[in-house]
Amino acid sequence: MNEQTNLDRRKFLVRLTLLAGAVPAVLVSVPIFSALLGPLLQRQKQAWRRVASLSDIAVGETKLIQYVNADPLPWAGVTAKAAAWLRRETEDRFVAFSTHCSHLGCPVRWEDKAQLFLCPCHGGVYYKDGSVAAGPPPKPLTKIDVRINKNDVEIRTAPVPITTITQ
Ligand code: FES
Repeated sequence: MNEQTNLDRRKFLVRLTLLAGAVPAVLVSVPIFSALLGPLLQRQKQAWRRVASLSDIAVGETKLIQYVNADPLPWAGVTAKAAAWLRRETEDRFVAFSTHCSHLGCPVRWEDKAQLFLCPCHGGVYYKDGSVAAGPPPKPLTKIDVRINKNDVEIRTAPVPITTITQ
């Protein structure tokens, strides 16, 4: 065997070794990268849901409403349901807020006499427009888009940030 043949064999073995290492590395990295980048590239699912009739809520009234999430999983069951606070500002203007406190996500409740949203967990208080009145919440309640469609009130459902921890 001459020296040139040894060199060719060595080159061939080096390339074969690199290829044998590269193929599994690519096979492993594709699902990892797609798992990491997939949520960034996915369009957020949204859907308009009917939540009330115009006659269901008087001007100045705030009501708890329930709706089905924009993208419920087939096995979600009752967890596919979400809630929001719907407030009628004027004859033709509604606002809706997430029920989750912007501090750590506890459900806020509406106190009609005080015209405030109160969080039972750490004493967070919000005005009727969702802005922070007192306590630890770092930002207002998350607003949800509302529209009037003929005699129905509809909200645009989408994944709602529950806490500030994930943001
Ligand atoms: S979770 Fe509402 S104040 Fe902390």
